[in-house]
Amino acid sequence: MSPTDVLMRQFRDIVLDRIGLVLPAYEDALIEHLLQERPQQRQLDTASYLSLLQSRTVVAEEEWRQLILDLTTGESYFFRDGGQMTLLREVLLPELIQRKKDSKTLRIWSAGCSTGEEPYSIAMLLDQLLPDRHGWHIVLIGSDINEQALEKARRGCYGAWSFRRMERVFMERYFVPDPPAEHAVHWRLTEPIRQMVTFRRLNLVHDLFPSELHDLHAMDMIVCRNVFIYFTSSTILNLAEKFTKTLSPGGILITGHAEMHGVVRPAELALRLFTASAIYQRLERPAVATTPSHQPPATVTPVVGPPPSRATPSRANNRHRQPALTVQPSGDGGTDVLAQAQQLFTTGRYQELIQLLEQYPAKKKSAQHYYWSARAHANSGHLAQAERDGHRALAMEPLSAPYHTLLAHIFHGQSRSVKTVETLKKALYLDGSYIPAYLALAELYRNEGDVQRSRRTYSSALELMAQLADTAQIEYHEEWRVRELQQQIEQLLANS
Ligand SMILES: C[S@@+](CC[C@H](N)C(=O)[O-])C[C@H]1O[C@@H](n2cnc3c(N)ncnc32)[C@H](O)[C@@H]1O
Repeated sequence: MSPTDVLMRQFRDIVLDRIGLVLPAYEDALIEHLLQERPQQRQLDTASYLSLLQSRTVVAEEEWRQLILDLTTGESYFFRDGGQMTLLREVLLPELIQRKKDSKTLRIWSAGCSTGEEPYSIAMLLDQLLPDRHGWHIVLIGSDINEQALEKARRGCYGAWSFRRMERVFMERYFVPDPPAEHAVHWRLTEPIRQMVTFRRLNLVHDLFPSELHDLHAMDMIVCRNVFIYFTSSTILNLAEKFTKTLSPGGILITGHAEMHGVVRPAELALRLFTASAIYQRLERPAVATTPSHQPPATVTPVVGPPPSRATPSRANNRHRQPALTVQPSGDGGTDVLAQAQQLFTTGRYQELIQLLEQYPAKKKSAQHYYWSARAHANSGHLAQAERDGHRALAMEPLSAPYHTLLAHIFHGQSRSVKTVETLKKALYLDGSYIPAYLALAELYRNEGDVQRSRRTYSSALELMAQLADTAQIEYHEEWRVRELQQQIEQLLANS
């Protein structure tokens, strides 16, 4: 192997670790070009450049952002794959709308959305299928690792190539020429459709999700098409597991054709076959898995639920090993209601949860009733009501780290970033062993590109998690067992 071959091999390995991309042989010319150009830009020789890529510095982070622009292919267009789009329009979205008609909430994620044509196509379909769309709370998120693609997606302005498969009726209804002219070469999405989609940068391979903080959880539908093709089967399996946990029970995963072919499916993901496409659906109840590695643990630790009533700071971690409900039976059905609330929350039935708690007499409500109500409201998009409930819980237990953390999640949803960080720090001041606050802070630092702080904060969380039972669960990360969550974080730290 020549020295150049060795460097190219190292480069391929580094890229695979960091963003999961397999660079095939036909990309040799691109790699050679990048290994000449990028080190020159940084005034480094190739070996030092490769060391830079593996370091954990701010410069390395900047370099990755640049490199990702060159390495990722953002080919996309509106209504790509007519068969799947018809399936969405005629079967899957109407089915979903019917299922959610009482709560009137829809949560959809286009993962690896490139320049945004995919989530905007879904937005247009929803606009057509929901005549009373404004009475619904719709969360439609597009994510990608390529920031340039996301910038274009946010602008919502496209050239003719993006419209190659779009019916004229959509063009006339949802686009205006830009600039206004008879022979315009660009068309801009109308504001109401553009505003339906929120875009965010996310590395599917290493970022942590489900994430309540970033609203990537309890999804009714995840569309991730033409992304897996660049990944190894072990990366795909890992991603399929993360996606499954990010779906609400009954939620749907749509990939490109045959992109999961040959990959062991997570036990909770059922295959549904249609003429146009195969899709996947998370079971309403956990399955008895066929593959041991994906089997739910034999003894299921109850989800760590509402925070215990504990006002004094301490370093005890036992809370995470304990059953969810730490309340004493009240003899008035209060505990039952909390158990039911927790059950409804875990199955994503927020509307029923809210109704249940509304019917419960206000005089008898504890901080934990308000806690569940706040989380259900937050996840249904009613952030003002969630904040009111969060404050009520905190007023009852002002020294509670969990209730501060609850409010921090709500502040984050309201884009109040300073208040979010302040409140999380307060939570940790009150209880320096409260893992969910560390995890939320670490996620925020990571998002801001503050690599060092994020790493330190994740490491603190890992140290505390090491003291917990493998099957324990942590608030806001209830889809994972502690051991699985640790593995995800360790992988993230190893590659960022
Ligand atoms: C071919 S595009 C697919 C766009 C759209 N889903 C479609 O089917 O038209 C693939 C996208 O996956 C993104 N991608 C590749 N690796 C990724 C990763 N590790 N995390 C997030 N996005 C990634 C690329 O940036 C690119 O925009």
